[in-house]
Amino acid sequence: MWPARCRFDVHADDAAFVKMLEADVRRGLSAWPRSIPPKYFYDEIGARLFERITELPEYYLTRVEASLLSRVAGEVAQRTAPDEIVELGPGSCRKVRWLFDALRSPAGVRYVPIDFGRDGLRDAVSGLTRDYGWLHVHGVIGDFERDLVHVPAPIGRRLALFLGSTIGNFEPAARAALLGEIGRLLGADGRLLLGVDLVKERSILEPAYDDAAGVTAAFNRNILAVVNRALDADFRLDAYRHHAFYDDAASRVEMHLLATAPQRVHLPKLDMVLDLHEGDGIWTESSYKFTRASTEAMLADGGLALDAWYTDEHDHFGLALARPAASP
Ligand code: SAH
Ligand code: AVI
Repeated sequence: MWPARCRFDVHADDAAFVKMLEADVRRGLSAWPRSIPPKYFYDEIGARLFERITELPEYYLTRVEASLLSRVAGEVAQRTAPDEIVELGPGSCRKVRWLFDALRSPAGVRYVPIDFGRDGLRDAVSGLTRDYGWLHVHGVIGDFERDLVHVPAPIGRRLALFLGSTIGNFEPAARAALLGEIGRLLGADGRLLLGVDLVKERSILEPAYDDAAGVTAAFNRNILAVVNRALDADFRLDAYRHHAFYDDAASRVEMHLLATAPQRVHLPKLDMVLDLHEGDGIWTESSYKFTRASTEAMLADGGLALDAWYTDEHDHFGLALARPAASP
């Protein structure tokens, strides 16, 4: 049951999701280096592991962005005066609360979250409608790389949120395409609030992706469980080592899974058998890190321009408020 004042449109049901995963995994595991796209981390277990990551002492991103949001939400709400907040990949929907709390006249405001996670999203949205009596929700269960066209028609001025530095999980061409799509959602008077993790010392970046408690390692290995379940494959999760490092020339943290011994993996639904030698890897995620200049360049590639730039006192995380480049 969806909560009251909520409507959800489902654009990625289980069958469509498995079809997309089949195509992506076939392409990724046939290529060199082998890879699996990071969007498949977030089944129910992966989403829970991600929530645990956000509480780790090493994973500063969520804490710093939340504290930054708490500081600037009032100014962002005043500058953007949204009738509607569209959020890509909201996960637990916790961060949007800072903006809801800052709205001057919230009556009639609509929230449009778009995420894969059906159960997680329903629970998160139940909490929002309970706590914000004025809130209306029209959610989209789908892939924000494909399904932004299904976002309902605007009811007024839009503020899009894309937080957590999830934009950093996309390669430059894909993120330009995605920002271009977001720009089309905004209309002339809409704005985007984009969270970006900033370039910093390796000694801070690497532990954030390789924590002492091993939660990120479990999150990384869980992607193999997602593939096993969807494709009847037989990856042995305990036969892969988590490996994360910062490549400063590319300004990205990379996560890989490395086979600890030779592995033969069967993927019957793909009619594929994969032979891995000890030390062979599967690249599961890149997490790009930005500067103000590289954020502006990325926005420009997507047809957007910077309106305002906010960072914390240590310059660890940035929030970029952006508008379509063509609007005043
Ligand atoms: N914005 C939250 C959650 C970040 S985790 C935060 O800042 O803490 C990334 C979220 O994006 C997850 O909820 C995941 O399900 C969602 N996600 C990742 N790729 C997606 C895609 N292609 N389409 C829809 N949701 C996606
Ligand atoms: C969602 N995304 C921005 C996270 C990140 O930091 O790249 C996912 C994550 N990967 C490892 N830890 C967290």
